[in-house]
Amino acid sequence: MGERERDLASRLPGHFRFGTSTAAYQIEGAVAEDGRGRSVWDTFCAEPGRIVDGSSGETACDHYHRWPEDIALLRTLGAAGYRFSIAWPRIQPTGTGAVNQAGLDFYDRLVDGLLEAGIEPMATLFHWDLPQALEDDGGWLNRATVDRFADYAAIVGERLADRVTDWVPVNEPNVVTLMGYAVGMHAPGKALMFDALPVGHHLLVAHGRAAIALRAAGATSVGCANNHAPIWPASDDPADVGAAKLFDMLWNAHYLEGMLLGRYSDDLMMLLEPHVRDGDFATMRQPLDFYGVNYYNPMRIAAADETAELPFEFREVLGYPMTDFGWPVVPDALREWLITFRARFRAAVPPIVITESGCSYAVGPDAHGVVDDHQRVDYHALHLAAVAEAIQRGVDVRGYYAWSLIDNFEWAQGYTQRFGLVHVDYATQQRTPKRSFNWYADLVAEHARRA
Ligand code: NOJ
Repeated sequence: MGERERDLASRLPGHFRFGTSTAAYQIEGAVAEDGRGRSVWDTFCAEPGRIVDGSSGETACDHYHRWPEDIALLRTLGAAGYRFSIAWPRIQPTGTGAVNQAGLDFYDRLVDGLLEAGIEPMATLFHWDLPQALEDDGGWLNRATVDRFADYAAIVGERLADRVTDWVPVNEPNVVTLMGYAVGMHAPGKALMFDALPVGHHLLVAHGRAAIALRAAGATSVGCANNHAPIWPASDDPADVGAAKLFDMLWNAHYLEGMLLGRYSDDLMMLLEPHVRDGDFATMRQPLDFYGVNYYNPMRIAAADETAELPFEFREVLGYPMTDFGWPVVPDALREWLITFRARFRAAVPPIVITESGCSYAVGPDAHGVVDDHQRVDYHALHLAAVAEAIQRGVDVRGYYAWSLIDNFEWAQGYTQRFGLVHVDYATQQRTPKRSFNWYADLVAEHARRA
């Protein structure tokens, strides 16, 4: 424990909650067990060329069988929070109708196991594994999926709301809209460009409907997990500035303003008007007990030339260290984003939780079995320091959930990107805590000692 860590522990408030995050399809495996139905990710992974290493979540970290071992890791880590997701196709194999009790039983045991270990569960209802049968009917382009999601939320809430501490209805609606339906790099692999926008609207209404259903079932803390990134224009050329503004609206403002203000800007309304029904804005603007931010890095945007399918394009963010994923490490951008967010939306901002932040580094065990991921230690130390600075500037940030507890299936990147505090050998399923795991555990303990 160095000076940096002692300083960090003293600057984060006593009630600050440390945690880690995962998602069902990325860790569970067991895709055909106990009645689970197929999801869009099973289908997508089976299509040649979709996943860089040709892999899938079929086995992943085998968490479906090894969850007691993973809870033991969480116990050792000592962080009070753990965020996981519930696989909709385990609960309703075709996304509608009868409940698969075996699926609910799995999460019931998991939640009880977490509570016994003294860990507060945060459950996400939709972390991208839509039942394939719903996608066959149009998926999130089809408004009826919103009704199906509200039913599913009620089912899960009825079973688990008495024990799950915090709820997140939808993980990163902007990523689903852009990556899943606009450019097709994620399931369901649709490349609809601007015609994907109704997906974002439907996900916001689904968020609201699920929040209502969860509260009706007794949930007392409902938030969100929205991916936010500061958007930097590639130059001061007005074309780049305009393209960056447009992208900022599509990436950040759409979801932020939808959830917090219950409205869209005129520019967005021009694109979405035919899809907005009476009452939608009131539905999406549910009171939030916390605003969850998934933060990774800023994005740099330039205007694309006239012939391109989309009017903006991504440019490299220069002058910062890079993770093995090629993502820039810019903790100052997190601090600035938090301060700007609070200053702009003021009283409309509920307490903030960083529901994800993390980095991919490939380092594995050396000859002695030690995984020395010192860059990951630095990443989390710097981002926690950015959070501490934002808190000192008056932003109410209540927690930080590191993505991820363990290495896992990184979507289109398969198993080639490792975000975990714990290394997974996929051939043997052996878990090896990395240096970052021990570092996080020490920091959590030091913070608790001072609180
Ligand atoms: C955010 C997503 O929620 C998560 O599933 C993903 O693995 C991380 N970003 C890293 O890309």
